Amino acid sequence: MATNTVARKNTAVAVRLRGVELLNNPALNKGTAFDEAEREAFGLHGLLPPIVELLDAQCARAYEAFLLKDSDLERHIYLRQLQDTNEVLFYRLLLEHVEEMLPIVYTPVVALGCEQFSHIYRRPRGLFISYPLREVIPQLLRNHPNTKVDVIVVTDGERILGIGDQGVGGLGIPIGKLSLYSLIGGIHPARTLPIVLDCGTNNEERLNDPEYLGWRHERITGADYYDFVELFVRAVKQVLPNTLLQWEDFAGIHARPILDRYRDQLLTFNDDIQGTAAVALGAMLSAVRVAGSSLREQEIVFFGAGAASIGVADYLRAALVGEGLSEEEARRRIWMVNRGGLLHDGRAELTAEQRVYAQPLARVAAWPRSGGDAIGLYDVIKNIRATVLIGLSTVTAAFTEQIVREMAGKVERPIIFPLSNPTEKSEARPEDLIRWTDGRALVATGSPYAPVQFGGKTISISQCNNVYIFPAVGLAVMASRLSGDGTGTRRVTDAMMIAAARALAEQSPALKDISAPLLPPLKNIRAVAVEIAFAVAMEAERSGKSDAAAKESLRARIVESQWAPEYPSYIPEIG
Ligand code: NAI
Repeated sequence: MATNTVARKNTAVAVRLRGVELLNNPALNKGTAFDEAEREAFGLHGLLPPIVELLDAQCARAYEAFLLKDSDLERHIYLRQLQDTNEVLFYRLLLEHVEEMLPIVYTPVVALGCEQFSHIYRRPRGLFISYPLREVIPQLLRNHPNTKVDVIVVTDGERILGIGDQGVGGLGIPIGKLSLYSLIGGIHPARTLPIVLDCGTNNEERLNDPEYLGWRHERITGADYYDFVELFVRAVKQVLPNTLLQWEDFAGIHARPILDRYRDQLLTFNDDIQGTAAVALGAMLSAVRVAGSSLREQEIVFFGAGAASIGVADYLRAALVGEGLSEEEARRRIWMVNRGGLLHDGRAELTAEQRVYAQPLARVAAWPRSGGDAIGLYDVIKNIRATVLIGLSTVTAAFTEQIVREMAGKVERPIIFPLSNPTEKSEARPEDLIRWTDGRALVATGSPYAPVQFGGKTISISQCNNVYIFPAVGLAVMASRLSGDGTGTRRVTDAMMIAAARALAEQSPALKDISAPLLPPLKNIRAVAVEIAFAVAMEAERSGKSDAAAKESLRARIVESQWAPEYPSYIPEIG
């Protein structure tokens, strides 16, 4: 498999800015890498040290400075400042140290960046769309310096990772996500736009903080909230039509209704729902292959029946139907347990989404139960031959030794994914799962874990992270614009996300070596993104949602549209 590569392109770019203004523009600044001719042409002599450097030398210095920082927050601030000073250098540094720096620019350290947003704020990046300015949103969008935007990531800051309402500080998430769109998907940084819908905050700490930079007001709710979102979407359609709009870290009660309302109106998706489901399905498909089985042979148990479980189950169900099962058969393979026990049709309090996964009561009524009326997780594992166990419950250590041993007693390679975040909420520790199953369990987790030593072997633990999916979806959308009339893909469909999951599974190192991790290493992630983007774009074309194009030219377009952190040559703009 190819590793991350940087294509070399020799295109001269016409630039209008000169002198200090040019150095102060992070999208154009090259710092000490401006060559003699550029220094002469743009009035830079004297403003820079006399030595001309290459990007690699700048990278080495930047890495040295990074290592000098003594806390994760300081490292996050350093990288964000570098992004606001010299974007090419920022992305090249990230690319060279992707495994070390991804957790700093994104999860988990970005959580600190959001909490501390108002205290570490330095320079503007992205757009603040504050409720009091709701009548002029199109004008705010037009104020953005780059008129061409390919991808917007928007949050309302209400459910930031596992740390709740951060108000305007939530903007750190779209900034972080979009830097991964550029780093991995190769979306040009100048064509990305992070946005926070500042709806107020119910976080008392933020409201009482004299330095808080957002609208100091409790959150707007109900019709006012949805009207505000509607004004925003209308403005995007008007000012930035055909832009990919990703919804991020909205509260559960808003995420699904917003997705359902807009998914057929514009090019949009919700990463928490669809991205999570796609990466979990991808990991599952590769685990099933490693187990020498197929998806249609699985009995799948979910612990937790919330937003994340329902999203993953929906994609699994679609994939099962895709493998020839009827809707009914697919549903019978999926067992979901929540606070009230197993979902079955004798339970009146289930939501419409949960009812889809309610087992017929007659099927389970006679089961022996270990405690009270409810059918608990252990009871389900005891009474069926579960091959897959997925945790999305936030219940620490819920996958007990008794449950895991019971499951492992009936299947050769139990597939166990404790996906709850953060680490302290995980349903199990990988080392326990491996030990209790004598090294037979196929494990992927929500949070990052160190490799496990067992039986003289080192077992790497894959992290189910949406970063495998969304940058590739962005790349597929961009590449589709280079074809035909240039309008490209118009919708992000579930079928496209499932195609992404299947392509991710195809890239699994475990297919070649069954002791290798289920998901590809991050150091290969740009190359993996190309393959996933190809599958997504193929599906988009198949479903008639974009222009038809030959397979080979499609792949070429994907590779061609993947921006890489390199300095182009500059020539002065005439006139
Ligand atoms: P949610 O609050 O919508 O759902 C939680 C579910 O767990 C509910 O059905 C609830 O009844 C059940 N539950 C809670 N306590 C229980 C108990 N004691 N016994 C049985 N069931 C119990 O939350 P959501 O959004 O579905 O997220 C769940 C977890 O999944 C979180 O920790 C989140 O961080 C994680 N997650 C991980 C992702 C990943 O990619 N690894 C992506 C999305 C979420």
